[in-house]
Amino acid sequence: MLRPKALNLQTGQKMAGACPDCGYMEDIKHHTIPNNEQLSLSAYKNDALSYLTSYSLFSDGKTFNHRFDNYITNSMAQKRVLTRCEGLANEIIGGNTEHILLMGITGVGKTHLAVGMMYYIFEQTGYKRQVFTVNHGIKSKQMVNWKILFIDWRELVENKKRSISDSQLAKQVNKTMDELKRADIVILDDFGSERSTDYSLDLADTFWRNRENKTVITTTNFTGDDLYKRYGPRTISRMKHHGTKSGVAFGGIDDQRN
Ligand SMILES: Nc1ncnc2c1ncn2[C@@H]1O[C@H](COP(=O)(O)OP(=O)(O)OP(=O)(O)O)[C@@H](O)[C@H]1O
Ligand SMILES: [Mg+2]
Repeated sequence: MLRPKALNLQTGQKMAGACPDCGYMEDIKHHTIPNNEQLSLSAYKNDALSYLTSYSLFSDGKTFNHRFDNYITNSMAQKRVLTRCEGLANEIIGGNTEHILLMGITGVGKTHLAVGMMYYIFEQTGYKRQVFTVNHGIKSKQMVNWKILFIDWRELVENKKRSISDSQLAKQVNKTMDELKRADIVILDDFGSERSTDYSLDLADTFWRNRENKTVITTTNFTGDDLYKRYGPRTISRMKHHGTKSGVAFGGIDDQRN
């Protein structure tokens, strides 16, 4: 598309662009110019989504479609977990650090609601959050984009192992490991689904050391006791640091995958 640089002398607006190959001309009359608020929203949104996609580890592209709005609530149990997740997402928006644990059998919507919480937080806050900085003793408020990561735990364990002999993968995994320390929120998906080895227990220990005082939304097929048996008291104590009231049990719900 070729677009004249000069503005239209009469309207002061940009002139329509045209394609030199096919002759297509832009319909500039019906093209609305975004205002400052819309431009700012789209800048925060681009930054938040670009952070999410650059450092996350997804194993399934469908994950991006999960929202509170498309979580069907045919039973009281589904209504209950949806309301709990909405409440916990609001706690995070309000500035609380949360260690949320979504527990239940396969296919009941744990990953769906964890991702639903992320999009709810993005949309309710315009993709940004408030931070305070102190410069020369003067405190000031600043808005920054949310930094949220989705981590498929088994994928992380496997990639980390493979990266020992794959330098390209090692670069990518190391970036993700660095961001795990910094992100505002991490969704830790399917914790406990990996084959338990000294290596995976070590990685779990590192993960929770880095996230002890930062928000994590964990999904798991394990019960609290199973997690304790596998990962031991030190890791579980870090996992529960901000989570005394943040367990969500998906009991009484059937597998929705079939
Ligand atoms: N109540 C629901 N409404 C709409 N879709 C649902 C609901 N519950 C589950 N699903 C869909 O069913 C599929 C499985 O759900 P999800 O991946 O969230 O299950 P899960 O509890 O995380 O299972 P797993 O333990 O195997 O990881 C997804 O495609 C999800 O969108
Ligand atoms: Mg899941």
